[in-house]
Amino acid sequence: MNATANTLFDDWDDAPVATPARSESPAAPENATDAENTAASLAPVKAADKRIVNGRGDINQLAPFKYPWAWDFFLTANRNHWTPTEINMAQDVQDYRHKLTPAERHMFENVLAYLTTSDILAMRNIGLAVMEKMTAPELQIYQARQVYEESLHTWTYQHCIETLNLDQEDIYNRYRIVPAIHGKIALANRRLEKVLCSGLDLTNRETLHEFALSYLFFAGIFEGCWFYNGFSPIFALQRRGLMKGTAEQFQYIMRDEVLHCAFGIRVIRELMHEENLTLDPEAVADLWREAEAAENAYAHYVLRDPVLGYSADLHMEQFRFVANRRARQLGLAEPFPGAEAALPWLDEQANLRKEKNFFETRITEYQTGGSLAWE
Ligand SMILES: [Fe+2]
Ligand SMILES: [Fe+2]
Repeated sequence: MNATANTLFDDWDDAPVATPARSESPAAPENATDAENTAASLAPVKAADKRIVNGRGDINQLAPFKYPWAWDFFLTANRNHWTPTEINMAQDVQDYRHKLTPAERHMFENVLAYLTTSDILAMRNIGLAVMEKMTAPELQIYQARQVYEESLHTWTYQHCIETLNLDQEDIYNRYRIVPAIHGKIALANRRLEKVLCSGLDLTNRETLHEFALSYLFFAGIFEGCWFYNGFSPIFALQRRGLMKGTAEQFQYIMRDEVLHCAFGIRVIRELMHEENLTLDPEAVADLWREAEAAENAYAHYVLRDPVLGYSADLHMEQFRFVANRRARQLGLAEPFPGAEAALPWLDEQANLRKEKNFFETRITEYQTGGSLAWE
């Protein structure tokens, strides 16, 4: 997969994984003297010796790269810099107060309530559970950028909440009192807690399998499906000319999330290849089943009353359609065969290619790098 060309857009599929053969490390013999140990530790790093996890190379030395695509992701992410204060939210205040129906306000507030907590979870997963287990610096460097981006997303939600003068205590506590929101967060927390430990022995096959499943959940489902599809209710308002500032904020977040998902899926595939790891199909099927059930409860709570142009059924069909795409990208069987694209405009939102069809914004100033090809 060409990371720069393909991962900006969420339409790549089933990338082959090619990993060079691992060379023999110049490890010192068991009865080595101090001088021999020093000589062995001073040996140059070889790219082929790097590993996703369980590597023995020098984690402080960036090159030679074994995973040049990871460095590409880092460069790409850095062309995508923005802050929430740059986006005009004035019309959103008017829309929220005077134009949204009670059902639309309910949808808007609860989507925001879910997102506020979930981005902190995403930050903690990558920063505290995943990054430290990576044994190639080019992987950690992109993940460090991802940690920053997740905190930027949290800032964005807070900025929207402050700008619209929403009750912070109410919004931030909803996931603790609304079962349908809590269900998604609790599911993610359970996955996170299984791997949030610096002493995990990833040479143990069961532990490695658990770690891979957790990473799959966060990259492929939490970010790849729940986030990817999770902004859609707000985009549905945007398509009717409502809450356009918030929607624009979310489009910028979504572009980050497309990269997070693509990077995570690439890491999982490389990990499975390097470690000769096959995921238990039943365990993967359970992940999809749990994710669909939690999403279904959430969608029917958020969309309990009719909203023009959007519904829980549309949301769930799109979830299943995107889930199939993630499974293909992971090299796994589709969990929901036959699911159809219920929101064909969603990929356009993710890719920002057609954004100017919806409204005029500062999009031409959006990227800070001049060399990125968007078409
Ligand atoms: Fe995020
Ligand atoms: Fe993310």
